[in-house]
Parts: sequence; C-alpha cells; structure tokens
Amino acid sequence: VRVTFAELSQTELSDLVASLRAAYGELSARGLKLDLTRGKPSAEQLDLSTALLDLPGSADYRAADGSDVRNYGGLRGLPELREIFAPLLGLKPESMIAVGNSSLELMHDYLMHAVLFGVPGGSAPWRDVAFLCPVPGYDRHFSICAKLGMEMIPVPMTADGPDLAEVERLAADPKVKGIWCVPKYSNPTGEIYSPETVRRLAEMPTGAEDFRIFWDNAYAVHHLTDEQQEIEDIIGAAQAAGHPDRPIVFGSASKITLAGSGIAFLGASDANLDWLVGHLSKRTIGPDKINHLRHVRFLESPQGVLDLMAKHRALLRPKFDLVGQALTDELADTGVATWTTPRGGYFVTLTVRPGCASRIVELAGQAGIALTPAGAPFPHGKDPQDNVIRIAPTFPPLTELADAMAALVLCVKLASAEQLLAA
Ligand SMILES: Cc1ncc(COP(=O)(O)O)c(C=O)c1O
Repeated sequence: VRVTFAELSQTELSDLVASLRAAYGELSARGLKLDLTRGKPSAEQLDLSTALLDLPGSADYRAADGSDVRNYGGLRGLPELREIFAPLLGLKPESMIAVGNSSLELMHDYLMHAVLFGVPGGSAPWRDVAFLCPVPGYDRHFSICAKLGMEMIPVPMTADGPDLAEVERLAADPKVKGIWCVPKYSNPTGEIYSPETVRRLAEMPTGAEDFRIFWDNAYAVHHLTDEQQEIEDIIGAAQAAGHPDRPIVFGSASKITLAGSGIAFLGASDANLDWLVGHLSKRTIGPDKINHLRHVRFLESPQGVLDLMAKHRALLRPKFDLVGQALTDELADTGVATWTTPRGGYFVTLTVRPGCASRIVELAGQAGIALTPAGAPFPHGKDPQDNVIRIAPTFPPLTELADAMAALVLCVKLASAEQLLAA
C-alpha cells in the first residue's frame, strides 16, 4: 500500500524531494520543446476536412433557392446550411443566423452593441454592468468582459453546471446583465449542464429586465464516448418561462471542419435576431456564402456532421486516454492532485494543491513544456486558490503528448513535495 505525500515523514519527504530534483534535472537536460497550451485541432483533424478546399468548385455557385452565392446579400446565411446545423444545436433554422467563421466574434459583437446601444427589452445601454462567470471557464469570454470594463463575478462550477443558488442570488442585482455558459463538455472542466440547471437558469427571476444567458454550445457534437450527451432546450425553456429574449445560443464549426475557416451560428428570439442583424447590416453586406455553400456540399446533412465527428473522436480518444493514464499511473496514489475525465470537448482539468499551480507551470516551462498560464480560466487570469491547470491534449502528436505528460506529472510531484516539505 502506497502512502500519500502528506503522510510521509520529514525525512521521507526530503528523500523524495531529492530524487524528484534529480529526475527534474535529467528532464531539463533533455532540452524538450513541447506545448500543451493549445486547444486547437491537430493537423490530422484538419486533414479530415481538406476536401473543403476544392469545394464548391468553379461551376457550383447557386444556393438552393437559385441565388448566386458569389454576390452580396443573404445576411442571415444560407438556409440549407442552417438546416444542417439547427438540429445539432437544438435550434430552428428560421431562428438562427449563420455568419462568419468565428462564434467568439459574435459574442464580442453582441456585447459591444449592448454596451453602445442596449438590447431588446432593456431601457439603457449596458454601462457599469456585471457578468456572472462560472469558474473555471473559457478565458476568451472573460477577456471580452475585461476589455469592455464589465465587472466579472465568479460563480463556482458544480458537476451539474454553475452553483444555481449562487447564480439566483447574484442575478437579483439589476447590475448583473448576464452569465457565460458552456453547457456541454464545458471549457475547461467538461461538465454537462443538468436538465434542472437549464430549467432554473431559464426560469429564475432577475433584477435586470434585459438579463442574457450567453449559451456557448461550442462542443455540441464533440463527444469522446459512445454516448452522445444531450442537454435541454434552453430556448424552449426560456420561452415557456416567459423570458424568450434571455438565451443567446452560439455554435461553431471551427472544431468540426477547419478552425480557421469554419462557420459561426447564433440562435435567439426574433427580437434578438432582428436587433443583431440590424446592427450587423451596418457592418457588412453579407457573410461569405461561398464558404457556406462549400460546407453544405461537404457535410450534406446533420448525419454528415456526426459522421465527421466520429472521425475526430477516433483521433482524439487515444490522446485523452493517454492523458488519463499518465495521471492515474503517476499521481493516483499521491493525494496531491485530482483531474477530470471528460466525456467530450477539448480539455482535461488538473486540480493540484492550493498554491502549487503557478509553480508547476513555471517548472514545466523551465523544462521546455509550455502549459497554459495558471489562472487563465479565471477572470483577470487570477485563480484565487492557484490550484487549477488546464491541459489541452488535442494538438500535439501522441509521442509528444506522452513526453509532455511524463514531464508534467514530474513537475506536479516536485512542486507538491517541495511545498509539503516547506510547510
Ligand atoms: C467555449 C468556446 N467557445 C468558443 C470558442 C471559439 O470559437 P470560434 O472558433 O467559433 O470563435 C472556443 C475555442 O476554443 C471555445 O472553447
């Protein structure tokens, strides 16, 4: 029976630190240059969609309604493309738009217009407002709020989604205008929002009459297991609760086809869509409909998307398994770390002893393994406990991932043992 680090005597601990330091010295001498920071698809994943580069082809430029996609217009995006993605995102084709290649851009624009002009159902532009930020969360969501000077109020995540009692309490303040949600395979902790969470978010009373749920369903079809996890329909639930304008649903093909040339989607009430399209129409005369048509030709149907996602899964599953195995083999008995086993999405979250995360990232960095800065998944990059590390296994090839994980677990052990010894 192995004992945890915390159970070791001072002598045993100092022996452990000495041997870990020796191992770390050998690691550093290898001169590795590895990167676990990037939550982006690997080259092999992009290869799955290379056919897009030859589509639609020089003779194919008519949309289903006969219009010429080479020309201006069609602000809401090709209807046949919306039909493919609507069921996958739990939306109706007529209640969504398909626009550029980045859903982050849509989130940014929605908030920008809200700050400048206010939103449907509200009485003033969003100045001096606050947003609820379930943590750990997606750093780029928080960067938008930071840039616009919005106050960010962290809310702890639970296995079923954000802590609802806390959300309901905070949302009573009229200053609080919204909440960030990644409802399926959450970035970075992998949670799937329960039906109860979806219902209560839709129903809860809010102090602001123009409260919004930013429902970023970025990983809607990014399953890592045989079971396709589903979430409840936030738009239907909000409608039923008398809050039709509350949810703004985002979707993205960035991690389905090409991260640099996918399609972004937004689904919401008519009032929200008319408002947003009104603003977008001052900014553009129409999206890249050739890219829309190319996606229609390539994907063909919702099933076409699911078939493609099965190929992604075949590439990703071994990487997530490797990460889980490396963590289990080296850290399971130590008592100094826990980690997530995501059922989908792009990340594994490693939770270490409070106060150790930034030291681990620093040690890894000095040995040539780049990790996402500790604190990144928190507003303003500050993790109050300094104990969360986000691992992004998708990009590196398996052999590099194995080296990087071996190095990471060593750094976790070393930082933890040093901290215990110093205590
Ligand atoms: C939760 C979440 N939303 C949005 C994005 C970015 O989406 P897009 O490429 O459509 O801008 C990411 C990318 O990592 C993400 O994790």
